[in-house]
This record gives sequence, C-alpha cells and structure tokens, in this order.
Amino acid sequence: MDIDPVLQRFLTYLDASPTPNHAVRTTVEVLDAHGFSEIDLGDPPEQLPAGFRGYLAKSGSLVAFHVGSKPAVETGFRMVSAHTDSPNLRIKPQPYVRSHGYVRLLVEVYGGPINPTWTDRDLGMAGIVAVRDGERIRQHLVTVHKPVCRIPNIAIHLNRTVNEEGLKVNAHTDLPAVFSLVDDGSEDPLRAILAAEIGVQAKDVLTWDLSLYDLTPARIIGAHDEFVCSARLDNLASCHAGLEALIASLWHGVPESTSILALFDHEEIGSQTARGANSRTLEEVLRMILRNAEPQGQGTFSRSLAHSWLVSADMAHAVHPARSEMHDGTHMPKMGAGPVIKQNANKRYGTDADTAAMFLLLCERAEVPVQWFVNRSDLACGSTVGPILASRLGVRTVDVGNAMLSMHSAREMCGTADHPRMAKVLTEFFRLPTIA
Ligand code: CO
Repeated sequence: MDIDPVLQRFLTYLDASPTPNHAVRTTVEVLDAHGFSEIDLGDPPEQLPAGFRGYLAKSGSLVAFHVGSKPAVETGFRMVSAHTDSPNLRIKPQPYVRSHGYVRLLVEVYGGPINPTWTDRDLGMAGIVAVRDGERIRQHLVTVHKPVCRIPNIAIHLNRTVNEEGLKVNAHTDLPAVFSLVDDGSEDPLRAILAAEIGVQAKDVLTWDLSLYDLTPARIIGAHDEFVCSARLDNLASCHAGLEALIASLWHGVPESTSILALFDHEEIGSQTARGANSRTLEEVLRMILRNAEPQGQGTFSRSLAHSWLVSADMAHAVHPARSEMHDGTHMPKMGAGPVIKQNANKRYGTDADTAAMFLLLCERAEVPVQWFVNRSDLACGSTVGPILASRLGVRTVDVGNAMLSMHSAREMCGTADHPRMAKVLTEFFRLPTIA
C-alpha cells in the first residue's frame, strides 16, 4: 500500500522512540534537519530575530520555538504541549533475582500500565547508561534492540480461572523478567550486554535508567488500513503530530505569532519533577525568548501570556465496541472521525467554552471533522499536562487528542486517518494570524 508520508514518518518516529530520551533525540534530529539550533539557558543573551528556530532539550523533555514576525506582546505564543513518557517497566539498579536456575531482572512499574499486557512479549531494553570515563561520567543513550528478556505467563492448566477472573499480575513477584539460565552468581550479564553495546568495559558501567520495551514494530492494520498499532501511542502520537505541525508551519513565510512545541517527560507520574510540566522549564524558555527577541521591559511576560493560547494534545478514549457502556452515550469518540475536544467540569482538562470554540473553528478552517469527549458522570476523569500548564501560566487552554483503544496497554491502537488531521489542525493553529 501507498502510505501517506506523514504516517510513514509517524511509524518511524514510534519505533525510534522507546523511551522519552529517545523521543527527544528523534525530535531533535527532525528539528536539526530543519534549521533549528540548540539553546542553553546558561549562555549569555543572544539576539533572536523573527524567524529564529531553536530548542531546549532536557533529557526526556524538549521545548522548541519559532520566533514570530510580530512581537509576542501583541500576538502572544501559540503553544502545543504533549508528553513523551508512557507507562512501562524500569530495571532496578541491583537487577538480579536468582531462583530455580533462572536469573530474572527486577523491575519497577513506571506510571499505570495494564500489567498483564507485558507478559509473553519479546522485550528489549533502552534508556540512559552512566559510564565512568577516567575522572568523568558520561551518559549514553542506549538501545538494546534484541529480545533479551520476557515475562512468561503461567500455563492455563495451572491457572484454570484466568479467563473468568482475569490475569492477576503482582508487580513485585510476577513482573521480574526472565533473562538467563546461567545462575552461578559470578556473572553480571546485564552489565556485559550494556558494555558491549556502548563499547566500554563492564566494570565502567556505573548505573542506568533503563526501560523494557516490546520489540514489535509499529504497524498499520485493518481491512482498509484503518488502524495504527504500536506501543506508546499515548502520547507519542501527539508529540509527532505537534512536530509535524511545527515543521509544516515553517513554509510560506514566518507566522505572526511565536510557535512553541513543549514536550514533557513524567506526565504519567504526575509531572512534579525537574523537567516535568510542573517545572519551570517552559516558563524559562518563554522568558528567554521575550528577553532576547523583545527587550521592551516590565510587563512583557504577562502581556504576552494574555494573548497566548495552549493546545494540550493527549490521546482520548475511543468508544470500545464491546464496552460502549463505559462512555456516556452521547460523547463517544470514534477512531477515524477526527480530533477530540476533551472537557471536564472539574477541570481535569483545561478546556473552557472559548478555547473549545477556538479549536472548533480551527478544525473548520482545516476542513477536519471534530468530536467531543466528556466522561460518564459517575466515573473519575483522567488528566493531562493541560491543567498544570494552564494554572502555572494562566494561559487559555484547550485539551484535545485523537481517539484510541487499549490506552496504557503495552500495545495500543488509534485511527490511521486521524493522525494527519491532527497535524493539519495544529498547523493552522501555528499559522493563522487571528484565531479568535
Ligand atoms: Co497521555
């Protein structure tokens, strides 16, 4: 089949980004290829002329910007946010548990995965490895892209009630991943694999921040190629749609407003970290842009924010064909039916009437269908980085996302048609001189 180039790049992006740090590296490669340059907030001020393209990369978080042709005090910032992290399993620093001839890797659960979906998969590992280099420490971004471990199910003959009661997976006792049968206690096989991958001595591998990941590549499936299946669609799909939009907005001249793409790690664990959405990261970059592009003095930041908009993009719950009662009967997003506006009276989403209306008009301009999601009124609602950034910055915010199934499974699915549509709407958001 002929794949839309946006979708082809999407599949490549998903496979190249097994961890947030990888997602940032993948994003940076695209930004570098389009004339963006890395900035360091510790550097002395540098003039940022209209059209300047830059980014701040901080491990698994990134803020990219394109300075608009008009001052931000007049036109504000147009910001798209998304999160780079997904629930998964992290390898502990003293990783081995040895029993019955097996060596297993101890893992910690990151965020809220559906634990049983991690069983019976061929798992690789990826992340940061810290290595001694003389007197220094070097961090390596590592991908062990081979099936080095597995979390085996117990046979149905020994678990007769599994289909009636569901698979219960204890995070501490069941999730350690089978890694080896060589059990003499003298070997350090994980260190050896990492050392070989990096090209250093095993004794110099100090420690790591490593995740397991499923090796199955992202794929398009369905009778008419309707679905994208992959790990980490929540929320690499939104990261990629935002990136596509930022790149598309570069053509046909510099937009009037300054464009911002803010991708954050640690959303799945509450964003309360040095580089999460609840850090000063985005605010510092906005202040730096104002200082270096528009030295007008006091009041600039608040004036700019008063004109700004934030689209918080994170995946939405599609109605499940077998479990439609989990939706409210009216607000039931479908895959393939366009982006979803997410609303919640208790502000678990940042959406207000004016911001939802702004997004409706954007979809109209982009000729893209649009849908609504509101939770069943008797169910607790999920959240996103939208309300966090809205409250930190006091900026008008709308929460949106594409519809998906299997959220937080090791393998998720979304609609093929929706991904380029979201990119198109976000491109309009960056480009339009006036949006409301
Ligand atoms: Co999410």
